[in-house]
Amino acid sequence: MLKIKRQAVNTDPIGIFDSGIGGLSIAQCIEQQLPHENLLYVADTLYAPYGEKSAEFIQQRVNEIAQWFIAHNAKAIVVACNTATVNAIDQLRAKISIPVIGVEPAIKPATIFSKNKKIAILVTKATAENKRFLALVAQYSHNSDVIIQPCPGLVELIEQDKRNSPECKLMLLTYLQPLLEKGIDTIVLGCTHYPLIKSLINNICGDSVVIMETAQPVTEQLQRQLALYQLINSSNSSGTTTFYSSKYCLTQQALFSHIWQRPLHLNSYP
Ligand code: DGL
Repeated sequence: MLKIKRQAVNTDPIGIFDSGIGGLSIAQCIEQQLPHENLLYVADTLYAPYGEKSAEFIQQRVNEIAQWFIAHNAKAIVVACNTATVNAIDQLRAKISIPVIGVEPAIKPATIFSKNKKIAILVTKATAENKRFLALVAQYSHNSDVIIQPCPGLVELIEQDKRNSPECKLMLLTYLQPLLEKGIDTIVLGCTHYPLIKSLINNICGDSVVIMETAQPVTEQLQRQLALYQLINSSNSSGTTTFYSSKYCLTQQALFSHIWQRPLHLNSYP
């Protein structure tokens, strides 16, 4: 049972988190489309990548961050991480009483839009091996050939700001070339870090391959949940976004600012 504080102008923040900078692609979309909301963004960089960790470990991290959000009066939580969503969202929803919005790869739209019904999903190792994720793929793959492509190593390079390095390009090529040889016409980004290298993926695959991401559907789902539980901040003033990282340092702050495309102050989490 959700126990929710309803008020006309609900200025309580929305907590958004990821293992690192990946979830910023979702936070950006939320900030643009819900400009009156106050946002708290936590990057759990000290423990990234989640994709190489066990389900138990991921659940422990997710529960700790969720409790921190609740202690900071969060009215909703966005799990801006595919790996954390498939590994930990069900148990989190059973434990806490505020709406929790997760990220799911756009498999269903991909199976609808793909012309030749050959689709690849790029994910972390922990997502590729997860039963909840495999069930989602099975649900939509009856009319399409869906290839699951784990991409170990990519998140680390993105976190180290090596997105444009030859190492990153080579790694991507290794993952994408076999998919192109199989004739895929659609790529689903099943990790929130991957939109940060979307242009590289596009350079390798060409414009004939459609790349699908999830920031927009997640934002719409958040909007629906806020409306449903009467949690929308209906004030006219602009909201604020506050950033935290469990591995705070100046290099991190510079990386955050670069991706956010404006100067920002990074705080230490917790
Ligand atoms: N950005 C995350 C995801 O969507 C986590 C990647 C990782 O930490 O391995 O899966």
